[in-house]
Amino acid sequence: MAVRIVREHGEDILRERARSVKRFDDVLQRLIEDMFETMYHYHGIGLAAPQVGVPKRVIVMDVDGVKLALVNPEIIASDGEEVDTEGCLSVPGVYGQVKRSAEVVVRGLNPDGTASELEATALLARCLQHEIDHLDGVLFIDKAIELEPVAGSEAGSA
Ligand code: NI
Repeated sequence: MAVRIVREHGEDILRERARSVKRFDDVLQRLIEDMFETMYHYHGIGLAAPQVGVPKRVIVMDVDGVKLALVNPEIIASDGEEVDTEGCLSVPGVYGQVKRSAEVVVRGLNPDGTASELEATALLARCLQHEIDHLDGVLFIDKAIELEPVAGSEAGSA
């Protein structure tokens, strides 16, 4: 496993649409392991593959006791609205208030290629929406109602 370099706002890869994963091979398993290690290293709660320079539809997160990796994730249902604070490891030093769906149902594939579907609320729902946006080249600063500079740690960013 290895901590990979986190790409920052201004790099083209963060603005591209990531490609669907078709091969569930060792390269994918290593990517997922490295994404977890990178996320934990920087005290983030979620990470999308483009953030480590890989344009594939893969996300990982560890939120409120739920640790998961999802491949080719899609939001298939959403409900409600909630505004809360977000940060991103790719946009250091800035937090913002972002409106998101309060509940989402996400379908995707597990790292072994089996189907997965989960319902999420609160921070897990927010993190899923934030990471899936990364796969479409969207950053939270595009959606933020208000941005605030924050000195120091990016803990809790995604
Ligand atoms: Ni992010």
